[in-house]
Amino acid sequence: MKTSSIHGMWSSRLAFVLAATGSAVGLGNIWRFPYITSENGGGAFVLIYLGCILLVGLPVMFSEIVIGRRGRMSPVNSLRELSDAVGASRAWMGLGFIGIIAGFLILSFYSVVAGWTLHYGFLYIKELFGAPGITDPDATFGSLLGNAGQLTFWHGVFMLMTVGVVALGVEKGLERAVGILMPMLFILLLILLAYGVSTGHFWDAARFLFQPDWSQVSTGMFVTALGQAFFTLSLGMCAIMTYGAYLPAHVNIPRVGTAVAASDTVVALIAGLAIFPVIIAFGIDPGSGGAGLIFTSLPLAFAQMPFGIFYGALFFLLLSVAAWTSSISLMEPATAYLVEATNLSRKTAALLIALMGWLLGLATVFSFNIWSEVTIGDKNLMGAIEFVATDIMLPVGGLLTALFAGWVLSKTITKEELDDKMPDWAFKAWLWLTRIVTPMLILWVMASILGFL
Ligand code: PHE
Repeated sequence: MKTSSIHGMWSSRLAFVLAATGSAVGLGNIWRFPYITSENGGGAFVLIYLGCILLVGLPVMFSEIVIGRRGRMSPVNSLRELSDAVGASRAWMGLGFIGIIAGFLILSFYSVVAGWTLHYGFLYIKELFGAPGITDPDATFGSLLGNAGQLTFWHGVFMLMTVGVVALGVEKGLERAVGILMPMLFILLLILLAYGVSTGHFWDAARFLFQPDWSQVSTGMFVTALGQAFFTLSLGMCAIMTYGAYLPAHVNIPRVGTAVAASDTVVALIAGLAIFPVIIAFGIDPGSGGAGLIFTSLPLAFAQMPFGIFYGALFFLLLSVAAWTSSISLMEPATAYLVEATNLSRKTAALLIALMGWLLGLATVFSFNIWSEVTIGDKNLMGAIEFVATDIMLPVGGLLTALFAGWVLSKTITKEELDDKMPDWAFKAWLWLTRIVTPMLILWVMASILGFL
């Protein structure tokens, strides 16, 4: 059994928890969760999403960390080594490749949206220094989307920030940044939550988020909720598997996995409870949706709050940081693989991936302006990339991960990795979820995408 990885190691249990939480908490919680919840009518969708976190997310989270730590390489090669070790087919390496491609597709649009948050951060900073503020949030957002040059610039800045950290490796930079900045973002969310309460619409928001209207439920909702569960927990594309490869041997996987999943869920729910009161208070339909939701609603709140401009700057900059610690993990699996498979240095490998991600991201940039007419089905280019990567590839990746950990790896290996001292019932619960429940749920949702159900 290998005790370390050639790519580096987390210095402690806390370092892993911070890095994995940094990966999980990002635009998925604060940008994507509110906007797709809005599009899916609230309550019922949120409960289905929470069910997916529990029944699919947690078991897959444990599985990814187990596979990563046992293999200690990039996903592709960890899967090769483990398959060899148990005499399974090397075709399982395919899971690693699916992960790398999904991560790459997600990185391409993620970086563009993170660019929006950077742009908003700087708008507020300029306002602090006396520039005119955002008086008409719809117009501000619309003009940003219409400006391909500006979008490309911020997308480029964000990609450079990401590649900077990935090129340096896991120990430096990453651990330190996450430890300070993530708690700050959380405090800021609590301040926004307090503002949300002060609008007098907290309970309306809570009702929208948690009171299910089961008559609204559609199969599409299950597809989106499952995709979001994977997206927000960074699962199904081997990111957590890769981080697991750098996890010291003594760390208890169920404990850290649960901590990461719980923090991620709490942040998403607090973001929802902070943002929806504002939406309702300003007379916006909470079901109006759209990828611009937080960019058009939150500036209304910042315009009214005492010190609102300051909070606005801080909020969007911290959100950029949250996105940053996530995009690093989107780039890491592909980089680790390139380093293993070629004789490129980590720096060159990371630069190559960033350049390709940036180029592909231009499809997302143009989907809002010069190519806004181009559609695939009912989606624009960004929507199509987001759908294929998040709602299709992540669940397929998650399914294969669960099958590999549950059926292919021996029980001796999984038990040893999860924790020798884990009570038997808990191990059995994980095993049967991973073997049966999780795969069945994913297959059922996938079948509904294909129109079989
Ligand atoms: N979990 C991240 C977020 O919620 C996005 C992400 C997805 C990161 C997949 C890594 C892998 O923003």
